[in-house]
Amino acid sequence: MTAIVGAAIEVARDAADAARLAADVVADTVRARPDAVIGFATGRTPRALYAQLARRVARRELDLRGIRVVALDEYVGVAPDDPRSFAAYLDAHVIRPLHIDPRRVSLLDGSAASDEVLAERCRAYDRLLDAAGVDLQIVGIGRNGHIGFSEPGTPFETATHLARLTEATRRDNADAFGGDPRRVPERALTQGPATIARARTILLVASGDGKADAVAAAFDGPIDPACPASLLQRHPRVRAVLDPAAATGLSRRGRGVTPDRSAPTTPRKADR
Ligand code: F6R
Repeated sequence: MTAIVGAAIEVARDAADAARLAADVVADTVRARPDAVIGFATGRTPRALYAQLARRVARRELDLRGIRVVALDEYVGVAPDDPRSFAAYLDAHVIRPLHIDPRRVSLLDGSAASDEVLAERCRAYDRLLDAAGVDLQIVGIGRNGHIGFSEPGTPFETATHLARLTEATRRDNADAFGGDPRRVPERALTQGPATIARARTILLVASGDGKADAVAAAFDGPIDPACPASLLQRHPRVRAVLDPAAATGLSRRGRGVTPDRSAPTTPRKADR
Protein backbone atom coordinates (compact mmCIF):
# COMPACT_ATOMS: atom_id res chain seq x y z
CA MET A 1 0.00 0.00 0.00
CA THR A 2 1.65 3.19 -1.09
CA ALA A 3 -1.16 5.71 -1.40
CA ILE A 4 -1.05 8.24 1.41
CA VAL A 5 -3.33 10.92 0.01
CA GLY A 6 -6.96 9.92 0.17
CA ALA A 7 -8.47 6.59 0.94
CA ALA A 8 -6.44 3.43 0.52
CA ILE A 9 -9.04 0.76 -0.01
CA GLU A 10 -8.15 -2.88 0.40
CA VAL A 11 -10.57 -5.61 -0.53
CA ALA A 12 -9.84 -8.76 1.40
CA ARG A 13 -10.34 -12.28 0.11
CA ASP A 14 -12.78 -13.10 2.90
CA ALA A 15 -13.71 -12.14 6.44
CA ALA A 16 -10.65 -13.76 8.03
CA ASP A 17 -8.36 -12.03 5.56
CA ALA A 18 -10.09 -8.72 6.32
CA ALA A 19 -9.46 -9.19 10.03
CA ARG A 20 -5.79 -9.90 9.36
CA LEU A 21 -5.37 -6.86 7.12
CA ALA A 22 -7.09 -4.59 9.63
CA ALA A 23 -5.02 -6.05 12.48
CA ASP A 24 -1.89 -5.26 10.44
CA VAL A 25 -2.92 -1.59 10.40
CA VAL A 26 -3.20 -1.60 14.20
CA ALA A 27 0.09 -3.50 14.55
CA ASP A 28 1.89 -1.04 12.23
CA THR A 29 0.55 1.87 14.27
CA VAL A 30 1.80 0.36 17.50
CA ARG A 31 5.15 -0.59 16.01
CA ALA A 32 5.67 3.05 15.05
CA ARG A 33 4.34 4.32 18.37
CA PRO A 34 4.00 1.81 21.22
CA ASP A 35 2.02 4.36 23.27
CA ALA A 36 -0.39 5.15 20.42
CA VAL A 37 -3.83 6.52 21.24
CA ILE A 38 -6.33 4.30 19.46
CA GLY A 39 -10.08 4.82 19.17
CA PHE A 40 -12.11 1.64 19.06
CA ALA A 41 -15.52 1.30 17.43
CA THR A 42 -18.03 -1.23 18.68
CA GLY A 43 -20.55 -3.25 16.67
CA ARG A 44 -20.48 -6.54 14.81
CA THR A 45 -17.91 -5.71 12.16
CA PRO A 46 -14.78 -5.07 14.23
CA ARG A 47 -15.26 -8.18 16.38
CA ALA A 48 -13.16 -10.30 14.02
CA LEU A 49 -10.44 -7.64 14.03
CA TYR A 50 -10.41 -7.56 17.84
CA ALA A 51 -10.33 -11.37 17.99
CA GLN A 52 -7.39 -11.33 15.59
CA LEU A 53 -5.59 -8.77 17.77
CA ALA A 54 -6.31 -10.92 20.83
CA ARG A 55 -4.79 -13.96 19.10
CA ARG A 56 -1.64 -12.02 18.27
CA VAL A 57 -1.43 -10.77 21.85
CA ALA A 58 -1.93 -14.29 23.22
CA ARG A 59 0.83 -15.57 20.92
CA ARG A 60 3.04 -12.68 22.11
CA GLU A 61 3.39 -11.39 18.56
CA LEU A 62 1.87 -8.08 19.57
CA ASP A 63 2.04 -6.07 22.77
CA LEU A 64 -0.72 -3.51 23.15
CA ARG A 65 -0.21 -2.75 26.82
CA GLY A 66 1.31 0.64 26.05
CA ILE A 67 -1.58 1.97 24.01
CA ARG A 68 -4.30 4.23 25.25
CA VAL A 69 -7.86 3.25 24.35
CA VAL A 70 -10.55 5.81 23.60
CA ALA A 71 -14.18 5.15 22.81
CA LEU A 72 -16.06 6.24 19.73
CA ASP A 73 -19.57 6.43 21.15
CA GLU A 74 -21.98 5.28 23.85
CA TYR A 75 -25.72 5.00 24.32
CA VAL A 76 -27.41 7.59 26.49
CA GLY A 77 -29.16 6.15 29.53
CA VAL A 78 -27.13 2.94 29.54
CA ALA A 79 -24.72 2.76 32.47
CA PRO A 80 -21.18 1.50 31.85
CA ASP A 81 -21.81 -1.68 33.88
CA ASP A 82 -24.88 -2.53 31.77
CA PRO A 83 -23.92 -5.43 29.45
CA ARG A 84 -25.58 -3.58 26.54
CA SER A 85 -23.31 -0.57 26.93
CA PHE A 86 -20.42 0.05 24.58
CA ALA A 87 -18.27 0.23 27.71
CA ALA A 88 -19.13 -3.41 28.37
CA TYR A 89 -18.45 -4.30 24.73
CA LEU A 90 -15.02 -2.67 24.86
CA ASP A 91 -14.26 -4.43 28.13
CA ALA A 92 -15.17 -7.81 26.63
CA HIS A 93 -13.63 -7.43 23.17
CA VAL A 94 -10.76 -5.00 23.67
CA ILE A 95 -9.66 -4.16 27.18
CA ARG A 96 -9.54 -7.62 28.80
CA PRO A 97 -8.43 -9.72 25.81
CA LEU A 98 -5.76 -7.20 24.84
CA HIS A 99 -4.54 -6.86 28.45
CA ILE A 100 -5.06 -3.10 28.57
CA ASP A 101 -4.78 -1.48 31.97
CA PRO A 102 -8.21 0.12 32.62
CA ARG A 103 -6.38 3.28 33.67
CA ARG A 104 -5.34 3.63 30.04
CA VAL A 105 -8.96 3.68 28.85
CA SER A 106 -11.16 6.74 28.31
CA LEU A 107 -14.84 6.17 27.69
CA LEU A 108 -17.81 8.36 26.94
CA ASP A 109 -20.18 8.26 29.89
CA GLY A 110 -23.74 7.95 28.65
CA SER A 111 -25.32 7.17 32.00
CA ALA A 112 -28.50 9.15 32.62
CA ALA A 113 -28.01 12.86 33.24
CA SER A 114 -29.48 16.18 32.17
CA ASP A 115 -28.81 17.32 28.61
CA GLU A 116 -26.54 20.04 30.03
CA VAL A 117 -24.42 17.45 31.83
CA LEU A 118 -24.32 15.23 28.74
CA ALA A 119 -23.24 18.20 26.62
CA GLU A 120 -20.51 19.02 29.12
CA ARG A 121 -19.30 15.40 29.02
CA CYS A 122 -19.03 15.75 25.24
CA ARG A 123 -16.99 18.94 25.51
CA ALA A 124 -14.74 17.39 28.13
CA TYR A 125 -14.23 14.35 25.90
CA ASP A 126 -13.16 16.55 22.99
CA ARG A 127 -10.69 18.35 25.23
CA LEU A 128 -9.31 14.99 26.33
CA LEU A 129 -8.96 13.71 22.76
CA ASP A 130 -7.37 16.96 21.64
CA ALA A 131 -4.82 16.77 24.42
CA ALA A 132 -4.12 13.07 23.80
CA GLY A 133 -4.01 13.25 19.98
CA VAL A 134 -5.63 10.19 18.42
CA ASP A 135 -3.19 8.22 16.28
CA LEU A 136 -5.66 5.73 14.87
CA GLN A 137 -9.43 5.75 14.95
CA ILE A 138 -11.18 2.53 14.01
CA VAL A 139 -14.67 3.05 12.59
CA GLY A 140 -17.38 0.88 11.12
CA ILE A 141 -20.07 2.27 8.84
CA GLY A 142 -23.81 2.21 9.23
CA ARG A 143 -26.03 1.07 6.38
CA ASN A 144 -27.13 4.71 6.22
CA GLY A 145 -23.54 5.92 5.99
CA HIS A 146 -23.14 6.96 9.62
CA ILE A 147 -19.75 6.87 11.29
CA GLY A 148 -19.76 6.70 15.03
CA PHE A 149 -23.34 7.62 15.73
CA SER A 150 -23.19 10.77 13.62
CA GLU A 151 -26.27 10.22 11.55
CA PRO A 152 -26.96 11.52 8.01
CA GLY A 153 -27.31 15.28 8.00
CA THR A 154 -24.82 15.90 10.81
CA PRO A 155 -22.69 18.87 9.72
CA PHE A 156 -19.07 17.86 9.20
CA GLU A 157 -17.84 20.46 11.68
CA THR A 158 -19.74 18.83 14.55
CA ALA A 159 -17.55 17.71 17.45
CA THR A 160 -18.49 15.12 20.07
CA HIS A 161 -22.21 15.53 20.62
CA LEU A 162 -25.50 14.19 21.79
CA ALA A 163 -26.98 12.46 18.73
CA ARG A 164 -30.52 11.32 18.04
CA LEU A 165 -30.45 7.87 16.47
CA THR A 166 -32.50 7.22 13.35
CA GLU A 167 -35.13 4.50 13.30
CA ALA A 168 -32.93 2.55 10.90
CA THR A 169 -29.98 2.65 13.29
CA ARG A 170 -32.17 1.57 16.20
CA ARG A 171 -33.45 -1.34 14.10
CA ASP A 172 -29.91 -2.33 13.13
CA ASN A 173 -28.83 -2.33 16.77
CA ALA A 174 -31.85 -4.09 18.22
CA ASP A 175 -30.09 -7.42 18.75
CA ALA A 176 -28.55 -6.35 22.04
CA PHE A 177 -31.95 -5.14 23.20
CA GLY A 178 -33.91 -8.34 22.79
CA GLY A 179 -34.52 -7.67 19.11
CA ASP A 180 -36.90 -4.78 19.88
CA PRO A 181 -35.86 -1.50 18.20
CA ARG A 182 -38.11 0.44 20.59
CA ARG A 183 -35.86 -0.63 23.46
CA VAL A 184 -32.75 0.71 21.75
CA PRO A 185 -31.90 4.11 23.26
CA GLU A 186 -33.07 7.05 21.19
CA ARG A 187 -29.88 8.98 21.79
CA ALA A 188 -26.17 8.46 22.04
CA LEU A 189 -22.99 10.39 22.77
CA THR A 190 -20.66 10.17 19.84
CA GLN A 191 -17.47 11.57 18.48
CA GLY A 192 -18.62 13.89 15.72
CA PRO A 193 -17.31 13.96 12.16
CA ALA A 194 -14.92 16.77 13.13
CA THR A 195 -13.61 14.75 16.08
CA ILE A 196 -13.04 11.65 13.97
CA ALA A 197 -11.37 13.72 11.27
CA ARG A 198 -8.73 14.88 13.76
CA ALA A 199 -7.35 11.34 14.10
CA ARG A 200 -4.03 10.96 12.28
CA THR A 201 -5.21 7.78 10.58
CA ILE A 202 -8.70 6.39 10.23
CA LEU A 203 -9.27 2.68 9.68
CA LEU A 204 -12.71 1.85 8.32
CA VAL A 205 -13.87 -1.75 8.39
CA ALA A 206 -16.97 -2.92 6.55
CA SER A 207 -18.33 -6.34 5.73
CA GLY A 208 -21.38 -7.81 4.10
CA ASP A 209 -23.53 -6.72 1.17
CA GLY A 210 -25.72 -4.69 3.50
CA LYS A 211 -22.87 -2.17 3.60
CA ALA A 212 -22.17 -2.07 -0.15
CA ASP A 213 -24.28 1.01 -0.89
CA ALA A 214 -22.98 2.90 2.14
CA VAL A 215 -19.38 2.09 1.20
CA ALA A 216 -19.98 3.22 -2.38
CA ALA A 217 -21.61 6.44 -1.18
CA ALA A 218 -18.75 7.03 1.25
CA PHE A 219 -15.94 6.64 -1.27
CA ASP A 220 -17.52 7.27 -4.66
CA GLY A 221 -20.36 9.64 -3.85
CA PRO A 222 -20.35 13.37 -3.26
CA ILE A 223 -18.68 14.61 -0.09
CA ASP A 224 -21.87 15.52 1.71
CA PRO A 225 -23.20 15.27 5.26
CA ALA A 226 -26.05 13.18 3.81
CA CYS A 227 -23.43 10.42 3.99
CA PRO A 228 -21.32 11.23 7.05
CA ALA A 229 -18.68 8.67 6.04
CA SER A 230 -18.04 10.61 2.79
CA LEU A 231 -16.02 12.95 4.99
CA LEU A 232 -13.31 10.32 4.80
CA GLN A 233 -12.62 11.35 1.18
CA ARG A 234 -11.17 14.58 2.57
CA HIS A 235 -8.96 12.94 5.16
CA PRO A 236 -5.30 12.52 4.23
CA ARG A 237 -4.83 9.07 5.78
CA VAL A 238 -7.69 6.63 5.52
CA ARG A 239 -7.36 2.87 5.32
CA ALA A 240 -10.49 0.96 4.41
CA VAL A 241 -10.56 -2.81 4.72
CA LEU A 242 -13.59 -4.35 3.07
CA ASP A 243 -14.73 -7.87 2.48
CA PRO A 244 -15.73 -8.62 -1.13
CA ALA A 245 -19.46 -8.21 -0.40
CA ALA A 246 -19.03 -4.73 1.07
CA ALA A 247 -17.00 -3.69 -1.97
CA THR A 248 -19.52 -4.68 -4.62
CA GLY A 249 -21.02 -1.18 -4.84
CA LEU A 250 -17.61 0.22 -5.67
CA SER A 251 -16.98 -2.16 -8.54
CA ARG A 252 -20.53 -1.86 -9.84
CA ARG A 253 -20.08 1.84 -10.24
CA GLY A 254 -16.73 1.28 -11.90
CA ARG A 255 -15.10 4.15 -10.08
CA GLY A 256 -11.54 2.97 -10.19
CA VAL A 257 -11.64 0.28 -7.54
CA THR A 258 -11.32 -3.36 -8.48
CA PRO A 259 -12.42 -5.80 -5.84
CA ASP A 260 -9.13 -7.58 -5.59
CA ARG A 261 -5.82 -6.87 -4.01
CA SER A 262 -4.13 -5.93 -7.28
CA ALA A 263 -5.73 -2.50 -7.37
CA PRO A 264 -5.97 -1.54 -3.77
CA THR A 265 -6.05 2.24 -3.93
CA THR A 266 -8.59 4.82 -4.84
CA PRO A 267 -7.37 8.35 -5.38
CA ARG A 268 -9.42 11.13 -3.89
CA LYS A 269 -12.05 12.61 -6.14
CA ALA A 270 -10.01 15.78 -6.56
CA ASP A 271 -7.07 13.73 -7.75
CA ARG A 272 -8.89 11.75 -10.41
C1 F6R B 1 -20.14 1.57 16.72
C2 F6R B 1 -20.48 2.65 15.80
C3 F6R B 1 -21.31 2.41 14.59
C4 F6R B 1 -21.06 1.07 13.93
C5 F6R B 1 -21.97 0.91 12.72
C6 F6R B 1 -21.80 -0.46 12.09
O1 F6R B 1 -19.30 2.05 17.78
O2 F6R B 1 -20.12 3.75 16.04
O3 F6R B 1 -21.07 3.45 13.67
O4 F6R B 1 -19.72 1.00 13.53
O5 F6R B 1 -23.29 1.07 13.10
O6 F6R B 1 -22.18 -1.43 13.01
P1 F6R B 1 -21.98 -2.97 12.69
O7 F6R B 1 -20.52 -3.21 12.63
O8 F6R B 1 -22.62 -3.67 13.88
O9 F6R B 1 -22.67 -3.23 11.41
